[in-house]
Amino acid sequence: MTDKKPRILSGIQPSGIITLGNYIGAIRNWVELQDEFECFYMLADLHTITVRQTPADLRKRSLELMALLLACGVDTEKSLIFFQSHVPEHTQLSWVLNCYTQMGELSRMTQFKDKAAKNANNINAGLFTYPVLMAADILLYQADLVPVGKDQTQHLEICCDIAQRFNHALSDTFTIPKGYIPKVGEKIRSLQNPTAKMSKSDANENAYISLLDDPDTVIRKFKRAVTDSEAEIAFREGKDGINNLLTIYSVITGKTIAESEQEFAGKGYGDFKLAVGEAVVSYLKPIQDKFNDYMNNRDYLQQIYTKGAEAASYVAQKTLRKVYKKVGFIPKG
Ligand code: TYM
Repeated sequence: MTDKKPRILSGIQPSGIITLGNYIGAIRNWVELQDEFECFYMLADLHTITVRQTPADLRKRSLELMALLLACGVDTEKSLIFFQSHVPEHTQLSWVLNCYTQMGELSRMTQFKDKAAKNANNINAGLFTYPVLMAADILLYQADLVPVGKDQTQHLEICCDIAQRFNHALSDTFTIPKGYIPKVGEKIRSLQNPTAKMSKSDANENAYISLLDDPDTVIRKFKRAVTDSEAEIAFREGKDGINNLLTIYSVITGKTIAESEQEFAGKGYGDFKLAVGEAVVSYLKPIQDKFNDYMNNRDYLQQIYTKGAEAASYVAQKTLRKVYKKVGFIPKG
């Protein structure tokens, strides 16, 4: 077929609150790229258990995340959406790729080092091989593009290294994917510590905006956002807090950073923070309304993720069969 669209695979973990960082860095691009690409969007539930989860909470958050992604605009007429654990080929390919991955390269992963430091009493093997499962997620679908935030860059690099190594050893098998990291919003920062990323696992809830925060909470968190001791609303080096707020404002309103700077020239930080908060509140309102509708329609959600897993498995099986054959396993007959 000549009109075949290039493919996207991306994933998100149902491991906590979904933040404005996840939205700006990844989810909004998932939505925007749906017309141009054939998209596979995955809820990475297998990845979440590298850190201890409470089973009932994981179940609840998984369903909520499915509803939230649909509410954000993932369109099931255009894209597939599924749970990683429903497509066993992910773990099957992951095993094979583990055997094409070096301990040394995994031990250099900064996210492993960070997570190991935070979970010192549970540095499990899954946490260590996490990037291999992520490589399997991407390579199973022969994805051309992977829309993610900046924090996933290193994981994408190791994915390409593993794919190249396999292709080199056993002839071309995997498409080498490219990352799609937004120019504005690749790393939304914590509202309390603007040198760090906004993270869904932050212990301080004032540090992040949840996509499900109510209007008063959103306004309160923005009012408390840490900025600097100057009085100028300008995007420049050393003004991480203001830069972050300008980034959020410009993505949410569709204005450029320069337009946003101009709009607030001469205004005080207090007015600016309130304006950012109000823009975010009105942006989130329709998403939250749709989220509630989807959550009231569990049967529909089940239909969507069942259909998604079936269609994803079909594609995944094709790659896995090819891989098994190349490594020398006898076909099932
Ligand atoms: P996760 O669940 O931590 O985050 C989901 C997406 O949100 C992006 N992101 C951010 N972007 C900008 N600013 C931030 N503060 C911010 N915080 C998070 C992340 O970069 C990501 O794109 N390992 C992945 C999930 C995954 C995956 C995959 C992704 C599993 N398999 C295959 C792509 C392809 C993760 O933990 O993302």
